[in-house]
Amino acid sequence: MVSERLPDLSENESPPTEAATPLYQTATMRGGLRQNLVRYRHRVTGGGGWGRFLWQGAVLTALSPLPTVLFSVVRGWAYRAVLGQVGSGCFIEPNVRFLVPRRIFLGRRVMIGEGCFLDANTPEGRIELQDDVWLSRGCYIVAGRAEVVIGPTTYIGHRCLLYGHAGLRIGRDVLLANDVQLICGNHTFARRDIPIRAQPPQGQPIVIEDDVWLGASTIVLGGVTVGRGCVVGAGSVVTHSLPPYSIAYGVPARIVGVRGEESAV
Ligand SMILES: CC(C)(COP(=O)(O)OP(=O)(O)OC[C@H]1O[C@@H](n2cnc3c(N)ncnc32)[C@H](O)[C@@H]1OP(=O)(O)O)[C@@H](O)C(=O)NCCC(=O)NCCS
Repeated sequence: MVSERLPDLSENESPPTEAATPLYQTATMRGGLRQNLVRYRHRVTGGGGWGRFLWQGAVLTALSPLPTVLFSVVRGWAYRAVLGQVGSGCFIEPNVRFLVPRRIFLGRRVMIGEGCFLDANTPEGRIELQDDVWLSRGCYIVAGRAEVVIGPTTYIGHRCLLYGHAGLRIGRDVLLANDVQLICGNHTFARRDIPIRAQPPQGQPIVIEDDVWLGASTIVLGGVTVGRGCVVGAGSVVTHSLPPYSIAYGVPARIVGVRGEESAV
C-alpha cells in the first residue's frame, strides 16, 4: 500500500534529483517486531486470530517434516483439520507449506510433492486441486486476488510456478512439464519517480483448456487462452492465445502446425 505522500507526476516534469525526490514509504516498512508478528499471523491465517494461528501452526508444524509414505498418508487425513477440504485418498509429502490453508481445497486422490508452496493469502484468493491432480515437487501456486483451479487428472511437473492474481484455470488431463510458469500478473511502471513496486499491479486471466501439453520451461503470460489439445514446445513464451489443437513453439510462440493435419511438425 502506498502512502498519501506520493508526488503528482504533473508537478515533476524533469527527472527528480535525490534532494527533490519526495519521501516514499510503503506500509510494510513501518512498525516493529510486534506489528510484524501480527502482520505475519494475518498473512498465514487470512485474518484469523491467535487461536487459529496456534492451532493451524501446531498441526502443520508437527506433521509437515515427518518422512516416509506413512506420514504422507497421515497428512492427507489430518490436514482436514486445517485445509478448506481434503478428499479421500490424498497424499501430501513432507515440507509442503500452505498459506491460509482454509482457502485451499483438494479433491480425491490428490498428490502434493515435497516442498510445494500453496498461497491463498487474500480474501479473494482460493486454490482448488480437483480429483487425481498430481503436483510434483517444488511447485509454487500463488492465488493472489483470484482463484486457481486445476482440473481432474492433470499433471504438474517439478518446480512449476502458477502465479494467479487474475484468475488461472487449468482443465482436465493437462500435462505441464518441469519448470513451466503461468504468470497472470504484471506491474505497471508509467511513473519514474516512485519504485515500480509501489505502482499498481494489474493482471489478466490465463486459461489452459483440456488435454494441453506445455513443454519444459514454457512461460505463458496473462490474457492467454491455450486451446484444447494444444502442444507447446519446450522453452516457448506464449504471449497470444492459441486455437485448439495448435502446435506452437518459440519466443514468442508461433503456430507451426495443427495436430492431426499433414502440415503438422
Ligand atoms: C514442439 C515439439 C513437440 C515438436 O516435436 P517434433 O514434432 O518431433 O519436432 P522436431 O523435433 O521434428 O522439430 C521440427 C522443427 O522444429 C524445431 N523445434 C522443435 N521444437 C522446438 C522448440 N521447442 N523450440 C524451437 N524450435 C523447435 C526443430 O529445431 C526443427 O526445426 P528444423 O526443421 O529447422 O530443424 C518438441 O520439439 C518439444 O519441444 N517437446 C517438448 C519436450 C518436453 O518439454 N518434454 C518434457 C516432458 S513432459
